[in-house]
Amino acid sequence: MSRPRRERLSVRGVEGLGPYTLVRLERGTLTPGIPGQFFMLEAPGCLLPRPLSLCLAPSGELAFLIDPVGPGTLALTELFVGERIHVFGPLGNGYRLDVSKPLLVGGGVGIAPLPYLSQVLKEPPAVLGFRTTHHAEAAVLVPNAEVVIDPVLVTEALPAGRAILACGPEPMLEAIRAHTAGAQLAWEAPMACGYGGCYGCVVKIDGMLKRLCVEGPVLCS
Ligand SMILES: Cc1cc2nc3c(=O)[nH]c(=O)nc-3n(C[C@H](O)[C@H](O)[C@H](O)COP(=O)(O)OP(=O)(O)OC[C@H]3O[C@@H](n4cnc5c(N)ncnc54)[C@H](O)[C@@H]3O)c2cc1C
Ligand code: FES
Repeated sequence: MSRPRRERLSVRGVEGLGPYTLVRLERGTLTPGIPGQFFMLEAPGCLLPRPLSLCLAPSGELAFLIDPVGPGTLALTELFVGERIHVFGPLGNGYRLDVSKPLLVGGGVGIAPLPYLSQVLKEPPAVLGFRTTHHAEAAVLVPNAEVVIDPVLVTEALPAGRAILACGPEPMLEAIRAHTAGAQLAWEAPMACGYGGCYGCVVKIDGMLKRLCVEGPVLCS
C-alpha cells in the first residue's frame, strides 16, 4: 500500500458537472493509491481539512468530485486555477480488487470513487442512482453505466451473481447490505484527522466500534 504524503498542490482545473464540481489538482509526488482510498484536502478558510475520495487519476493529476454541501466543500469548489492547497493521502482502505464479475454501484456524489475504480477494473458494468437528471450528468464519468433516477432505486436494477462494490448515501448502503451478502461498501463519517488520531470518525457497524478512516472507509458487509 502507498505511503501517505502531505504536499501543497496546485489547482489545474475546476469544472462543473451537474450540481457537482470536478477539481483537478497537479499530482506532485503523491500517489493515487487504491480506488476507494481518500485524501484530506485543505479547504480555504476552514480550520480542518475535508475527506474526499479520489475520483480520477489521469497522468500527473488527482481529481475529486465535490458536492458543495457546506463551507468546506463550497470553498473547494471555489478554488481557482493556480491556487495551491495542502493535500494528504492516500488514506484508509480501498476496495479489494481481486473479485470476479464486479458490479459498481453508486448513489449521488457517492459515485466519486467509481471512475478510478472502473478504470482499474477495466470498465465493468455499473448501476448509478441520482435524485434528478441534473445530478445524473455526473454519470458521464463512469463508463458502461445504467442510470436510474428517483423514485427508481439502484437496488431495483441490480443483476444477480455479481460482486458489488458500492459507495453512496447510508440508506443505499444499508439496502445493498440487506440485498447482498459480501458487498464491499464505502461508508462515511465526519473526519478531522484522517489517520486514526482523533477518534472523531468512530461508527458502530455490526455492533463493533470502528475508526472509519483506518478500518474503512471500505468495509465488507
Ligand atoms: C472517506 C470519505 C470520502 C468522501 N468523499 C467525498 C467525495 O468524493 N465528494 C464529496 O463531495 N464528499 C465526500 N465526502 C463527504 C465530505 O467530506 C463532506 O461532505 C464534507 O466534509 C462536508 O464538509 P463541509 O464543510 O462542506 O460541510 P459541513 O458543514 O461540515 O457539513 C454539511 C452537512 O453534511 C454533514 N456531513 C459532513 N460530513 C459528513 C460525512 N462525512 N458524512 C455524513 N454527513 C456529513 C454535516 O452533518 C452537515 O449536515 C467524503 C467523506 C468521507 C468520510
Ligand atoms: S478521522 Fe481522526 S480518527 Fe478517524
